[in-house]
Amino acid sequence: MAFDYQVAIVTGASSGIGWALAKELASRKCKVGLLARRGDRLAALAEEIRLSGGEAAFAVADVSNRAQTLDAMAAVRRELGPVDLLIANSGIGTHTPLKPLDTERVEYMMRVNIFGVIYAIEAVLPEMLERGKGHLSAISSLGSYKGFPGESGYCASKAAINVYLEGLRIQLRSKGIAVTTICPGFIRTAMTEAHAFHMPWAMEADKAARKIVRALKRRKKVYNFPWQTTWLTKFTCWVPDWLLARTLNPYVVEGPKPEKGSAFKK
Ligand SMILES: NC(=O)c1ccc[n+]([C@@H]2O[C@H](COP(=O)([O-])OP(=O)(O)OC[C@H]3O[C@@H](n4cnc5c(N)ncnc54)[C@H](OP(=O)(O)O)[C@@H]3O)[C@@H](O)[C@H]2O)c1
Repeated sequence: MAFDYQVAIVTGASSGIGWALAKELASRKCKVGLLARRGDRLAALAEEIRLSGGEAAFAVADVSNRAQTLDAMAAVRRELGPVDLLIANSGIGTHTPLKPLDTERVEYMMRVNIFGVIYAIEAVLPEMLERGKGHLSAISSLGSYKGFPGESGYCASKAAINVYLEGLRIQLRSKGIAVTTICPGFIRTAMTEAHAFHMPWAMEADKAARKIVRALKRRKKVYNFPWQTTWLTKFTCWVPDWLLARTLNPYVVEGPKPEKGSAFKK
């Protein structure tokens, strides 16, 4: 797939991986639509893209809200034209403590990480089907392959995305619409800056964005990266629970964790 003059919408473009993805796509002559809650940051990014000769439009939405998401996606589509590529990237990484279990926060995370993707797809899929072409993708996580202690809710939300996209990909086969699931390892962004532990093979967001865009260009079904963290994560699926508990439980933060990055705010 060539990106020139294609329309791509990136949700969660106000920081981190989404911000870097929008810039990478714009540098490849894509017209980019930007979505998130922080309009000031989207406006700044859109301006930066326009100043470097690109085309961008933005709209504010909380992707856990269906009506807001559909309206914002429609506004961007009106400005830029039919959407060729969706990258549903918006996400939050609330941990899953035991004391308290904090179901309300985990529920909100599920709405953002799962329904945020589903609503964004709902906004673009009918037109893609009409046109018989398009590309749907979402940023999942290597954490989708294993339920890690203290991250049960996050891992479950990303596992749901993997399975949702897998079913869609099979259903959309021969309809001209590609579906790509992106599973990154650790990327240095606002989401991970609160991590108190060493993040193995952590990568900068702009490098991650280049890798993701390359995978999208190849229309990969699933893209796991970096390979070292992919192997490590898949290996944990073979490790007995007692050994994982002994190794990982000391790093689990019980109770409220100090949070950084406005992406955590409701
Ligand atoms: N960083 C990592 O190590 C890593 C690894 C694997 C997967 N991921 C996934 O990558 C994606 C991007 O994360 P990141 O690391 O770039 O984190 P980030 O810098 O915190 O960015 C998160 C983005 O999601 C947006 N967002 C959060 N809640 C939203 C909501 N309710 N409605 C609309 N937008 C919302 C934020 O924008 P606003 O706050 O302006 O709304 C922000 O633009 C997430 O899906 C995350 O799960 C990250």
